[in-house]
Amino acid sequence: MNVTAIMNLKGGTAKTVTAINMAAILYRYHSQRVLLVDADSQCNLTEFMTAEQPEAQRGTDGGLYDLLTGKQAVIRQTGIPCVDILPATDDLMALDVNKAGGNGADVMALTELRRQYDERYDYMLIDCPPAFSAAAVAALIAADRVIIPMKLDAFGIRGMANLMCQIRNMQKVNPALTVAGILPTMCYKSEQMTEAAQMLQNSGLRVFHAVRRSTMVDEMTFLQTPLINSSPRCGACIDYRAFVKEFMNGGEHHGV
Ligand SMILES: Nc1ncnc2c1ncn2[C@@H]1O[C@H](COP(=O)(O)OP(=O)(O)O)[C@@H](O)[C@H]1O
Ligand SMILES: [Mg+2]
Repeated sequence: MNVTAIMNLKGGTAKTVTAINMAAILYRYHSQRVLLVDADSQCNLTEFMTAEQPEAQRGTDGGLYDLLTGKQAVIRQTGIPCVDILPATDDLMALDVNKAGGNGADVMALTELRRQYDERYDYMLIDCPPAFSAAAVAALIAADRVIIPMKLDAFGIRGMANLMCQIRNMQKVNPALTVAGILPTMCYKSEQMTEAAQMLQNSGLRVFHAVRRSTMVDEMTFLQTPLINSSPRCGACIDYRAFVKEFMNGGEHHGV
């Protein structure tokens, strides 16, 4: 199993939209089995992926919070075949990485889950919160790779330094961790190599095929079905397909 954390310490950079569409594309066009992990206490991924599921499937016992606090994880089905999810609950917010016992988190538990399900899934995609929380630490310990979805503006680029610093710290604990690359999101034109993308490339990071801005993405969040179902011809969907192909073919980036 290939384990990827989708991370940016900024909110609203399309982490969750990327997790949803990557999972759907990995299954539909590449026949891959995917385990999604929702590591964000806002639960956007969980709500999106389990909206169509029967009540019994939607229960939240056994989510990531339970796993990180020593209880049994319960993996649930989503509306997409071969795509399952370990859900989030809002109590993830209460986890403190530094406290031993009590509210302290077992940050190795996701790595253990990875071992357990190694043969069952081809990809684990972890939708991280916009914070360096206990769940984010657990994700970076379990992961091989990090994808950084990013809006190419000055705020996003400035935020990178902090994120790279945190990733480097985590590499002391998990030396296998690499940055797969930056995924520019919400771009006005995919073919445009902006000054910002050029800057990032010059810094030695891989910059993936950019995802165009499309009104169909907001619409998708209401329809609760990935772009390949709701708007297969929109620019963002075409770009996510190109990105997934690039991601699957490309090796890790060893620059950081
Ligand atoms: N390619 C895109 N085009 C237009 N809007 C987008 C695109 N990608 C994401 N969005 C919108 O940006 C907002 C944030 O996306 P989300 O995935 O929730 O970010 P994050 O998980 O990083 O906080 C959502 O309203 C989403 O619909
Ligand atoms: Mg999110």
